[in-house]
Amino acid sequence: MKKTIVSLEGVSFKYESQERFALKDVNIRIYEGEWLAIVGHNGSGKSTMAKLLNGLQFAQNGEISVCGIKLNEESVWDVRERLGMVFQNPDNQFVGTTVQDDVAFGLENHGVSRDEMVFRVEDSLKKVKMDHFLNQEPHHLSGGQKQRVAIASVLALRPSIIILDEATSMLDPRGREEVLDIVRDLKEEESLTVISITHDLEEAAKADRLIVMNQGEVYREGTPEEIFSMDEELVQLGLDIPFSVKMAKAFRQKGMNFTKHYLSEEELVNELWTSHFNK
Ligand SMILES: Nc1ncnc2c1ncn2[C@@H]1O[C@H](COP(=O)(O)OP(=O)(O)OP(=O)(O)O)[C@@H](O)[C@H]1O
Ligand SMILES: [Mg+2]
Repeated sequence: MKKTIVSLEGVSFKYESQERFALKDVNIRIYEGEWLAIVGHNGSGKSTMAKLLNGLQFAQNGEISVCGIKLNEESVWDVRERLGMVFQNPDNQFVGTTVQDDVAFGLENHGVSRDEMVFRVEDSLKKVKMDHFLNQEPHHLSGGQKQRVAIASVLALRPSIIILDEATSMLDPRGREEVLDIVRDLKEEESLTVISITHDLEEAAKADRLIVMNQGEVYREGTPEEIFSMDEELVQLGLDIPFSVKMAKAFRQKGMNFTKHYLSEEELVNELWTSHFNK
């Protein structure tokens, strides 16, 4: 039985300055231990959803609960201990003058004792392989290293859930892989639930499940296979199609057949070798 760790029920939200709702009657369940990717066109409400989950904004309608806690102004700090967020811009997330101060800052806010703080700062920096940089100034780090420190700051609070809101989009391909690999390892080691908001469809293709947002509403939920079978419909929703899906389509037009409709890059390569090139 899958256990629900986060739920949104009938959630609607409108920014004061806007006429339209940024989120409209959103109903979502997120399960313990899954990697959920949220995709959707610019302005479809993804970041707004992340802000609501972390209590940076409060919904006008509906109910959100995180680890069994109903989110409201009183419970927001309890929720933030369980659900941490990493944002897009590595430069906007630093408050400390050194890497260790930065990670310690969040703990101070949560009233963690001094000894426990020293332990957790080092422990979480070790987990993201940044423990050699304790006394470095954050702005001297590379983008990928900055995001790893941001992840350490989140980990230090021992959360159950981590939300990455385009957290790798400003990094080069190597930095991006570095950060994603670390999150994948942490997910296993710390039994984290990962919610990844991303425009990177290759990354989304590796998720357990995807949610497609469209104009503030949940358009479709499904496995990568189910979502990427939507093909042209995705393009109409302002999304791209993963490379392997485009390739498979081009091969099909040349008369090749595959065992299933959606193939990951690895599966496509395997099928090409075993059933097409190896004859
Ligand atoms: N601080 C704000 N004040 C007013 N309107 C906002 C604010 N932030 C977002 N919006 C509006 O709310 C809607 C949803 O925006 P949101 O940032 O959640 O989209 P998104 O899916 O994260 O987009 P992107 O892919 O570009 O990051 C948009 O119409 C946007 O213009
Ligand atoms: Mg956004």
